[in-house]
Amino acid sequence: MEAKPVSDSRAQIVHWMGLADANSTGNVHGGTVMKLCDEAAALAAIKHSRCRVVTVGMDRMNFLVPIRIGELVTFSATVNAAWNTSMEVGVRVDAENPRTGESRQTNTAYVTMVAIDDDGRPTPIPPIVAESPTDERRMREAELRRANRLKERDEIRRHRGGD
Ligand SMILES: CC(C)(COP(=O)(O)OP(=O)(O)OC[C@H]1O[C@@H](n2cnc3c(N)ncnc32)[C@H](O)[C@@H]1OP(=O)(O)O)[C@@H](O)C(=O)NCCC(=O)NCCS
Repeated sequence: MEAKPVSDSRAQIVHWMGLADANSTGNVHGGTVMKLCDEAAALAAIKHSRCRVVTVGMDRMNFLVPIRIGELVTFSATVNAAWNTSMEVGVRVDAENPRTGESRQTNTAYVTMVAIDDDGRPTPIPPIVAESPTDERRMREAELRRANRLKERDEIRRHRGGD
C-alpha cells in the first residue's frame, strides 16, 4: 500500500459555542469538547485511510483552560502515526473570542482510531510519511504512547486471567 504524507490527513472542525454547549458553571461542557475532538480525529483518520473508522481509545484529553460560551472553537487534527490497522490522531483545540480576535489553546487530545472493513473487522491502512521535524517528533512520541497503551492493555488482560 502506498505511503501518504501527514498533510493529506489534516482536518478541521470549527464550532461556535452556544447555550446548548454550556455546563452548570456557564462554560463549555467537557463532553462537548471531547465529542468534537473525536469527530475531528475521525475525519483525519478517514482522510488518511479512506476507510470507515472507529475510536478504540482516547487518552491525554487535557483541559488547559475553560472555553466560554460565544467563543469560536477550532479542532485541528492530523494523523501522528499509522501502524497496521490503527492510527494515533493528535487534536489541538483553540478558542477565539470573535469580538476581540484574541485566541488561545485550550485542549489537546490523542485519539486511537482503527480502520474497519464492511464487516466491521480491522483492515490495513497506508503507512504515513513525516514531512517536517515536527511530524517526526510527533511520530516518535506516538510510538511511545502506543507502546504504553498496549503494555497496559496486555497487563490488565493478564491480571484478569486472559492470555
Ligand atoms: C476497534 C476494534 C474493531 C478492534 O478489534 P480487536 O479485536 O481488538 O482487533 P485487534 O486486536 O486486531 O486490534 C486492531 C488494532 O487496534 C489496536 N488496538 C486495540 N486495542 C487497543 C487499545 N486499547 N489501545 C490502542 N490500540 C489498540 C491494535 O493494536 C491493532 O492495531 P494495529 O493493527 O495497528 O497493530 C474493536 O475493539 C471494536 O470494535 N471496538 C469498539 C469500537 C467502538 O465502538 N468505538 C466507539 C464508536 S466509534
